Amino acid sequence: MISKAKGFTYQKTNMIYIQKWKDGVWGEGKLETSDQFTISGMSTSLHYGQECFEGLKAYRRLDGKIQLFRVKDNAERFQMSCSYMMMPIIEVDVFIEAVKKTVLANADFIPPHGNNEALYIRPFMIGVGNNLGLRPAPEFIFSVIVSPVGSYFEGEVRPVDMSVSKYDRAAPNGTGHVKVGGNYAASLIAQVQARKEGFADCIFLDPKTHTKIEEVGAANFFGITKDKKYITPKSPSILNSITNRSLKYLAKNHLGLEVIEGEIFIDELDHLIEAGACGTAATITPIGSITHNGHKHVFPAHDVIGEYTKKLFDLLTGIQFGDVEDPQGWITIL
Ligand code: PLP
Ligand code: COI
Repeated sequence: MISKAKGFTYQKTNMIYIQKWKDGVWGEGKLETSDQFTISGMSTSLHYGQECFEGLKAYRRLDGKIQLFRVKDNAERFQMSCSYMMMPIIEVDVFIEAVKKTVLANADFIPPHGNNEALYIRPFMIGVGNNLGLRPAPEFIFSVIVSPVGSYFEGEVRPVDMSVSKYDRAAPNGTGHVKVGGNYAASLIAQVQARKEGFADCIFLDPKTHTKIEEVGAANFFGITKDKKYITPKSPSILNSITNRSLKYLAKNHLGLEVIEGEIFIDELDHLIEAGACGTAATITPIGSITHNGHKHVFPAHDVIGEYTKKLFDLLTGIQFGDVEDPQGWITIL
């Protein structure tokens, strides 16, 4: 078994999965050794951002077996993203099979059990083929590439400092709810600026009123209130995180917390005792402070991970690594 996770960086593995769409039909999916693509320089994905992707992980269990977390949910969200981007749909079963095949072909690269290390799986679709005018591509490629990864935010799981971006990552009726490359390209300027200023990342506000927390560039936001409720923003322009969906379930059913999907005003953070970012890459990253318009709001849990965030972290990662019983059919053992 090779353990080579080096933070959240890409390392080439044995095989990638490729499937091509042409003349209205999908060809057969294949595993290939090269991770290089030869496509037309006039592809819609290169010029007009006709692209979408997913992110999930394969985990090494204590007994050595490999398991996936909520792969069907990623398949369904991928279909939504493909539809929005005017790209052909990949059937849920085809998506799951492609993920399974790619993971098994790269089983040697799955890090050992625990330590927040896993095999990150990146399914994606791109518009390819010669094209100049603004229209959907004549051809598409669906691919799955994997890489061993560790923590998204460097080091131990401890609270990080974040700032509030002056930029929007998505429009009120735009693409915020689908997982498309353009959202991420548009958020880079804010993220780079935040990191230059010494923050781990930045938080985006709602694009309509700029008064409410939406999410982080690559993760959802949640908080624990003084009266012990799990609160997370509700907005049409954020990604419906599968990790956050899992945390809502665990907060309610395992920790007995009331779950609120509502508004978190950036100028009214005193009611939160803990805050965090959650996502496949981020897992759960506690947020110790948020700086907005020169004012730094420090949460009570700013030095070490808060009590409830820690409980959620342990439950979530316990299920993902196969140490805690799967409550909802979230796990697929390969
Ligand atoms: N929000 C954004 C913008 C993301 O990129 C991600 C990462 O996938 C998430 C939230 C978390 O989603 P999930 O938990 O499904 O990975
Ligand atoms: C994920 O968590 O899977 C993501 O897609 C985050 C990525 C933008 C780094």
